[in-house]
Amino acid sequence: MITETEVVSKKPTVLSIRELKPGFGAEALDVKIASSSPPELAALVSAFHQHGALLIRNQQITPQELESFMRLFGELEEHTLKENCLAEHPYIYILSNRKVNGKLIGAHNDGIGWHTDYSYKAEPVMCTMLFAKEVPEEGGDTIIADCCAAYQKLASDTKTKLNNLVLHHSYKYFMETREYNQTQLSKALQKENPDVFHPLIRTHPTDGRKALWVSTGTVKEVVGMSVAEGLQLIDELVNFVTQDRFTYRHKWQKGDILIWDNRCTLHTGTLYDDEKYIREMHRMWIKGNKPF
Ligand code: SIN
Repeated sequence: MITETEVVSKKPTVLSIRELKPGFGAEALDVKIASSSPPELAALVSAFHQHGALLIRNQQITPQELESFMRLFGELEEHTLKENCLAEHPYIYILSNRKVNGKLIGAHNDGIGWHTDYSYKAEPVMCTMLFAKEVPEEGGDTIIADCCAAYQKLASDTKTKLNNLVLHHSYKYFMETREYNQTQLSKALQKENPDVFHPLIRTHPTDGRKALWVSTGTVKEVVGMSVAEGLQLIDELVNFVTQDRFTYRHKWQKGDILIWDNRCTLHTGTLYDDEKYIREMHRMWIKGNKPF
């Protein structure tokens, strides 16, 4: 719950901001993206970079306006499964349980499980944006974990032990073992998505802060450890990062836009009663760099 006591800075001439939770995330107040001035838009981008996540509520915005807004954050990234994208808008991916003529209009339960987007790519996405088109009355929340706050709370000998570990990420492994929507990967998708290796401790390129950049799903092994030992370590670290003290749980309202920095966070969707409610989210990604 956001309270006025969490207001940390007010810049009446450009943007009013309050934290989503102490030390993490920001909500920009009284903003209409579609009619914002260039200085207001620049202030939104800078609030995102400063706070790790940015919430803007109550937006009425067209797909074109959403694309223009997201281009302020960087170059738009394509999605792996093109069939779930909005018609005429290949950068907008639909997450939904809605069916039209008996067919799902997007990916359903796609983001369940702690992960960071595109971690199976050499250059995972810098940020993820979700725009809430329709939301359930209960459930279907998104939870974001602050991996920098978690790293800071590690004991110094644990930091040393983890510092040079490398994770083997695999899209094939992910698609064939995940809880929802398991599929055997086609040869073409295997070729387009070869396995990659990323550091467990990631350095944020903007200011050098360290993140405990662990995730579930795409991690197949920890290099230099047996598979069982490595995956047990991953489970322990994910449990550590996702404690309540490091997470923000977002309860969606229609019209919300939430953007988070994948270089220093993990996230998960949560289940909802998909027989009773419709959830439709539009997702966009911004290209990122090779983690180091
Ligand atoms: C995602 O992981 O990209 C989506 C999460 C959600 O649906 O809340």
